[in-house]
Amino acid sequence: MKFFIDTANLDQIKEAQDLGVLDGVTTNPSLMAKEGITGEENIIAHYKKICDIVTGDVSAEVIATDFEGMIKEGEALAKLHERIVVKVPMIKEGVKAIKYFSDKGIRTNCTLVFSAGQALLAAKAGATYVSPFIGRLDDISTDGLNLIAEIRLIYDNYGFQTEILAASVRHTMHVIDCAKIGADVMTGPLSSIEGLLKHPLTDIGLAKFLEDYKKGN
Ligand code: E4P
Repeated sequence: MKFFIDTANLDQIKEAQDLGVLDGVTTNPSLMAKEGITGEENIIAHYKKICDIVTGDVSAEVIATDFEGMIKEGEALAKLHERIVVKVPMIKEGVKAIKYFSDKGIRTNCTLVFSAGQALLAAKAGATYVSPFIGRLDDISTDGLNLIAEIRLIYDNYGFQTEILAASVRHTMHVIDCAKIGADVMTGPLSSIEGLLKHPLTDIGLAKFLEDYKKGN
C-alpha cells in the first residue's frame, strides 16, 4: 500500500519524507489556501518545491471546469515536473479530460469521487488514480469504507489498472481498514501516518528495557 500525505505544508511533507515511508503527496486548492499559497505563480512555485522534497507522485489540481481549460492547465502542470499527476474533478468535462490525458500519456488523479459509478467511469476513461473521499462520506453518515470495498470489487472484476487512492482519510483506523480492503494508496494528514507508530505497550516495554540495561551497567 502506498502512503501519500494530504497537505501543502512543506515542513510536514519533509517530515513524512524523512520517515522513509512516503510515496507521494496530494494537494487541493483548499490545502494550498490553508498554507497561504494563492495566485497562479505562487501555486506553481509551490508545486515545484514539493516535487523537490519528495521522490513520489505529486497531485496538482486543475481549476478550470471546462474541457479546453482543463487540458491547457493540465498540460502545463504535467510539464512542471515528471512527478506531477494532474488532478481532475469527477464531472462530465473532467471525464473527457482524463481520457484525453490518458491517450497522451499524462497521468491523472480523478478527484471528488463519492460513488462506485463515478469510480467505474474514471477507470474507463483511463485515470491513473481514483480518489474516493471516505472521510467526507463518513461526515454525512455514509460508510466511506464500503465505497472502497465496492470499487475494489469492480476494478478486480474487470482488471482495471486504475489505482484506488483512498482520500479524505482522517485517522489511523481509516488507514488500517483501507489496507485490509486492499486500497492501493491512502492519502491523509501526517497524524494518520505517525499515529500508526503508537502503542502504549511499545513505550512501556522500551522504558523497561532501558531501565534493565542501566541496572546491568
Ligand atoms: C484528496 O486528494 C483530497 O485532497 C483530500 O483527501 C480531501 O480530504 P478532506 O475531506 O479531509 O478535505
